[in-house]
Amino acid sequence: MMEGVRLINLPKIIDPRGNLSFFENENQIPFKIKRSYWIYDVPGGQVRGGHAFKESQEFIIALSGSFDVVLHNGVSEKRINLNRSYYGLYVPKLLWRSLENFSTNALALIVSSVAYSPSDYIRDFKDFKTIKNANK
Ligand code: TYD
Repeated sequence: MMEGVRLINLPKIIDPRGNLSFFENENQIPFKIKRSYWIYDVPGGQVRGGHAFKESQEFIIALSGSFDVVLHNGVSEKRINLNRSYYGLYVPKLLWRSLENFSTNALALIVSSVAYSPSDYIRDFKDFKTIKNANK
């Protein structure tokens, strides 16, 4: 895909009583989990994100419903639709990303490799391009 971005399939324990999936710290996903947060009750047409992270790596799962993860590496854009709870998208640091096109009742779980820190955010696309080029 794009610069280390990949879909990661999670274990799926199929059971007539209801299926079960999971991930553990440093298993299934390629970083140590420092933080989890989730986005929900998104009104139709709203967009979340729209920034990049200097250090944070993320793993994003559609626990319920569906949405698109839109990634930009400064040159090109890639849109990935997530709609199952047994796989997720690994997003390395230094990619511009937004979450869009949320279905009704969509629930986006995001796990991050860093604690919340406003200074990890790059909120200006021009700054992002500059930092991206400097990191080449
Ligand atoms: P933010 O990541 O800026 O959301 P978006 O990129 O969709 O606009 O987060 C929105 C607010 O939530 C911001 O004021 C900071 C707060 N927040 C935390 O306190 N902890 C967190 O882990 C996250 C992700 C956000």
